[in-house]
Order: sequence, then C-alpha cells, then structure tokens
Amino acid sequence: MSTFKPLVFSGIQPSGNLQLGNYLGAIKRWIALQNEYNCIYCIVDMHALTINPSPEKLKQHTREVTAALLASGIDPQKNILFNQSRVPQHAELAWIFNCIVRIGWMKRMIQFKDKVGKHHEKASLGLFAYPTLMAADILVYRATHVPVGEDQKQHLELARNIAQRFNNDYSCRIASLDLGVAMKAEEKTTSGFFPVVEPLINDTSMRIMSLRDGTKKMSKSDESDLSRINLDDSADDIAKKIRKAKTDSEFFPKTVEELKNRPEADNLITIYAALADSNKRTVLTEFNIKQFSDFKVALTDILVEKLSPISSEMRRLKKDYAYIDSVLKNGSRRASIIAEKNMKHIRDIIGFL
Ligand code: TYM
Repeated sequence: MSTFKPLVFSGIQPSGNLQLGNYLGAIKRWIALQNEYNCIYCIVDMHALTINPSPEKLKQHTREVTAALLASGIDPQKNILFNQSRVPQHAELAWIFNCIVRIGWMKRMIQFKDKVGKHHEKASLGLFAYPTLMAADILVYRATHVPVGEDQKQHLELARNIAQRFNNDYSCRIASLDLGVAMKAEEKTTSGFFPVVEPLINDTSMRIMSLRDGTKKMSKSDESDLSRINLDDSADDIAKKIRKAKTDSEFFPKTVEELKNRPEADNLITIYAALADSNKRTVLTEFNIKQFSDFKVALTDILVEKLSPISSEMRRLKKDYAYIDSVLKNGSRRASIIAEKNMKHIRDIIGFL
C-alpha cells in the first residue's frame, strides 16, 4: 500500500464542447471526489495543441471547458482548477520523462495508433509524446489517484511504469535526499519519490458510446453532432438526438445477458443507469416495457433533468469571462507552488545544478 497522502489529479482537453461521455466517464466522479480528497483538475491546453487549434479557438475552448466544469459543480476554492500551460513545470518534467521512456513503450499506445491510422509519418512528435506529458501532469504533483474514463487506462499504465522506472533508476539519490517534513524516512525507501498512480475508472460509465454507432466511443471530435449529447444542448436537441439514436429491431431487453451483441441498446441503458446512479440490472427490471421508443422518452426526461441546470449555468458563466479567467489564474498560482516544490527535488535527484 502506498504511504503517500492521497491526492487526486485529472485533466481534460479544451478541444470543443464537453459531451456526455466526459461528464459520466470523468467529471461526475471528479465532483464526488472533491468532498473527500484534495483534488487538482487541469484544462490541458498543451495537449490540445496536438490537434492544431487556431489561437482564438484554443482560448475560447479553454474558457468554455472551465465554464462547463464550474457549471457541473467543481468547486474552485476547495480544489485547484487551472490551465496546464500556465505551469511550465509540466513541460519540464515531460522532457525528463521523454528521456526515461523507451520508444517501444510509446509505440504500443493504442490511442496514438487510432488517431494517426496509416499516416504515422505525418503525425507530430507532440502527438506521439502526448502520454509522457500526461504522466508529467500527474506526477509533478505526486498525485496518487486519477479518475478517468476507460480510454485513458493504457496512458495511466505508462505513467505507472515511468514512476517505477524513475524510482528504481534514482533509488540511491532518492534515499539520500533530505525531502523535509513532506516525506518521512520510510516513504523514501518503501515508495520511492513518485507514487505509483491508481486509476479510478467507473464501472457503469467507463465508456459511453456514440448514439449513431454503438461500437465507437462518444467523442467531441465525431463529425456528426447527432452522435453525442453536448453538455450545453437544449431540451429540444436532446429529445431529437435520443429519438434518432440508433437501436435495433429487437424488443426492449429484460436481462443484462440479453444486451450481449446489442451495443446500441447497451449504451442507452448504460447512460440511463449512470444518470440515475443505478446499474443496468436494476434499470432493466424497473422498465417493464416492450418498445424502445417508450424507454427513449424516459431517457430524454432524465437527460434533460440532469443536464439543463448545467447548460443554463454554462450560458450564464460564458457571459462572465473575467470570472473564468480569474479562477484559472488563481488555480495556476496554487498549482505552481506545489509543482515547483516537487520540481526542486526532481532537479536535485537527476543531478541538475
Ligand atoms: P479527454 O479530454 O479526451 O477526456 C476527458 C475525460 O473524459 C473521459 N471520456 C470518456 N469517458 C467515458 N466515455 C466516453 N465516451 C468518454 N470520452 C471521454 C476521458 O476518459 C477522460 O477521463 N488524455 C486525457 C487528458 C489528460 C489527463 C491528464 C487525464 C491529460 N493529462 C492527466 C488524466 C490525467 C484526454 O484526452 O481526456
């Protein structure tokens, strides 16, 4: 068991409107965790640079995603909420990790392969190195727990490998360091400098799929807006998207076993269960119906009930950029203090004068 004090870290890209998968796979958990732990939540604008946004769009999306997180219930006083590029220690540690990580480890990253397809020679080096920056995001704070959707699992395994490799490679230096009250003697020897991070992945909502194709992840980058529910969709948009959501020709299932090989049906029931804080088995027994159309009405109702307070607060916050900017500036200041304290030790460990 880790001897590190629990600290939660997670990040989200400002690459467009947040969608239901972000909310159910990550943000909902972020909100629950803020009552129990110290949490650091980051808008990863440096990661978003890998998709070449225009400067205007990058700024706009950074503010919009911040508004969405605040509107969803992230408390910027209790937690640290900030944008990545304001804390340059992330990039500094990412470079150190680039020198630790093996190209063979990076070549196994599924998300890189999915994103570039056959065009890997044309992909940017930044996109290839994306997971080392992600490891640096987490480890520059020596965070212990990372709430994410299932698609980030492999990246977190890489972060664990990097932490272990660093702890092993520099074990003598780490043991001889005086890290002050923040790190007791036994922590130095049992755990190393970096904690081996624990992914927190929600069982019910770890992967929310597209409304048009139940085998594809719901994503802000999908060409079709009908494939996703955006957090700022109106009630009419939601009703239309759920009405048009793909299902199959079979009756509404009665058991979880009947959902096998029915990805679209499975996805809609997963979404309902996650929003209702329930599980698929309970949802299926509660709905004693035959037609999917009846279920879609109930799904629309719960989506509107849960998302309309968020979308109206987002609309209000979007008119107050001064407030959003002040939240990010204040969060970055607080994040920098922790990051710099840890970086001082890291520079010392690796031998920078
Ligand atoms: P991003 O911006 O793609 O997504 C943010 C969070 O939302 C989750 N998510 C989903 N969960 C379930 N179903 C879906 N369809 C779905 N779509 C997105 C993601 O799993 C994620 O938790 N690389 C990260 C950002 C990042 C990060 C980090 C995360 C950068 N540094 C450090 C954790 C720790 C990403 O692109 O997330």
